[in-house]
Amino acid sequence: MSHLFPTYARWNVTPAKAEGSWLTDQSGDVYLDFTSGIGVSNLGHIPKQVKKAVDKQLQAFWHTSNLFQSPLQEETAKILAEASHLDLVFFCNSGAEANEAAIKLARKSTGRSKIITFLKSFHGRTYATMAATGQEKVKLGFGPMLETFEYVPYNDIEAVKEALDDNTAAVMLEVIQGEGGVNEGNADFLQEVEKLCHENGSLFVIDEIQTGIGRTGKPFAFQHYDLHPDIVSSAKGIANGFPLGAVIGKKELAETFSPGSHGSTFGGNPVALSAAKATLNTIFEDSFLNEVQQKGELLTSLLKEQLSGVEIVKGVKGKGLMIGIELSEEATPYVTAAREEKLLILSAGTNVIRLLPPLTVSEEEISQAVKIIASVLTAKVQIS
Ligand SMILES: Cc1ncc(COP(=O)(O)O)c(C=O)c1O
Repeated sequence: MSHLFPTYARWNVTPAKAEGSWLTDQSGDVYLDFTSGIGVSNLGHIPKQVKKAVDKQLQAFWHTSNLFQSPLQEETAKILAEASHLDLVFFCNSGAEANEAAIKLARKSTGRSKIITFLKSFHGRTYATMAATGQEKVKLGFGPMLETFEYVPYNDIEAVKEALDDNTAAVMLEVIQGEGGVNEGNADFLQEVEKLCHENGSLFVIDEIQTGIGRTGKPFAFQHYDLHPDIVSSAKGIANGFPLGAVIGKKELAETFSPGSHGSTFGGNPVALSAAKATLNTIFEDSFLNEVQQKGELLTSLLKEQLSGVEIVKGVKGKGLMIGIELSEEATPYVTAAREEKLLILSAGTNVIRLLPPLTVSEEEISQAVKIIASVLTAKVQIS
């Protein structure tokens, strides 16, 4: 018997080694990996510059606690602050922790308790972030929920206006909902939410855990829409596979997180930080981000071309290298069928195939993946 809680419906693949866009399992089968560990290994598996930085840190020291000075945290925070046009960073270990910190910052700094989030959003699995998530399935059996959140339909500005009140600390959203189905926010809607927040004295919080760190061809996806959030949360790709999260905010929030108000034993761990600094220094280069945009355009156009006329395909959506293929039926059987053809892909929501290839993916790998996806979606798949 397995001694693991069965929280994941695990695939029948046991990784043995991985490099770049490729993963080899213990039986020697080689897979083209368009999952990147669910949007984490943005520079592919074991990128040289990250490995070098981590190896160096492993020789120096592994952990000291946040009571010590940390030039590495200072330098990495500066990179994140400059890239997001914000000021201050708190390091933690995961996306949920970054959102927890964002929620605590918003509530304490405004002295208000309500936070507006959106249907089909996903913000994490802790009590606050599960409650923030606009999907009932995530909360089943875990009630009662923290009564701080009000959920409104995404891209519905009238619903936001109705929900905002004197007690609203923040509106929190993903500019492209990842787990909820690769649902893009409209620029007008997002800009209007920001305006309404600022008029109402509420903070505008953007969850960039899946969309950030170059995934859409900008350091953070909100930068496609001319937005100016007060708080941004980040994790997943930030350290290319080492556990790290960050909440990034305006300098006016400094007092809210004064000494003793928030903390984390492992948050900002030097090994994870060494990986983060090397990762961010590579991804936040303009030339790298431009290539991500070009590869995203190539992937989208090849998918549109090769899937046109395929009966069950309703459309291709997303930005950069965060792509959804919307189907008229459940996506999971097609994800399984692709895996049998040695391509690793994901689903999102019920009907969407989600592609999160490494940002370093080659044009050849993109064409190879599209061919497999087209053949799988064209073939009759037996839905079990
Ligand atoms: C948008 C978003 N927010 C938060 C999270 C939670 O992150 P973690 O699993 O690192 O806690 C996720 C994870 O999928 C996510 O996609």
